[in-house]
Amino acid sequence: MALAEGEFAVSYGDDNIEVWVTQMGSWANMNTAFIDRKNGVVALVDPFDAQGWLRALADENLTPTHILLTHTHKDHTVGVKAIRKAHPEIEVWGHVESVSPSLIGRILFRRTDFTHVWDHDPDAGIVWECGDIQLMVTHSPGHSPGHVTFHGHGVYVAGDLLFTMRSGRVDLPGSDPVAQWRSLATAKSILQNLPSDWRLIPGHRYDWIDGSTPDWVTLEQALKHNISLNAPDIETFDALPFNRFDD
Ligand SMILES: [Fe+2]
Repeated sequence: MALAEGEFAVSYGDDNIEVWVTQMGSWANMNTAFIDRKNGVVALVDPFDAQGWLRALADENLTPTHILLTHTHKDHTVGVKAIRKAHPEIEVWGHVESVSPSLIGRILFRRTDFTHVWDHDPDAGIVWECGDIQLMVTHSPGHSPGHVTFHGHGVYVAGDLLFTMRSGRVDLPGSDPVAQWRSLATAKSILQNLPSDWRLIPGHRYDWIDGSTPDWVTLEQALKHNISLNAPDIETFDALPFNRFDD
């Protein structure tokens, strides 16, 4: 399937947690929400279009309670300010290392004021839970400092660590190709140990191996075909053309 701009795909697991997935904006940012209606918990990952989210949630009488950020590049945080303005009590979570102290970093990274931070080491995972939502938060730097992934309730939310067929660029301020290689190895072992029919939700909807642009692929498909997950060594990985761009 291919979601239209701001269209929501909702899955209902047998754990009473709804997972909403949408794509928004000209870079096809993928957004995910974990919703526990019984306990009134609505956790948005990397909200792009604040008004789109606020409208869709209001239509269902839902109030956003948490924003969870994979990283603080502008296209992953653009919706935070307006959502926070509408719901000042919302909690905003991110990794402490994802706010850049450098000048060039401040141009690229939106200054995001977290209300809560994770501070665990690279490749470590900690559980985040609220109501019946339970997510593993894995610190996965490389594309950016303090990048994290989330998995639980049938999805692995990859941020810009992984897209369906490849991985995120490592030529931006704060990028670290060696850390990225380690984060990919950690991601691979996580994916291998999760149910193969879970979905990998990429940070952006980019091309898949057949030229289509699916919103997600299964973990089985990603493990089989993702070029970065299948690179045999760091030299091969580092030479992959999508790691660095001229733009
Ligand atoms: Fe990014």
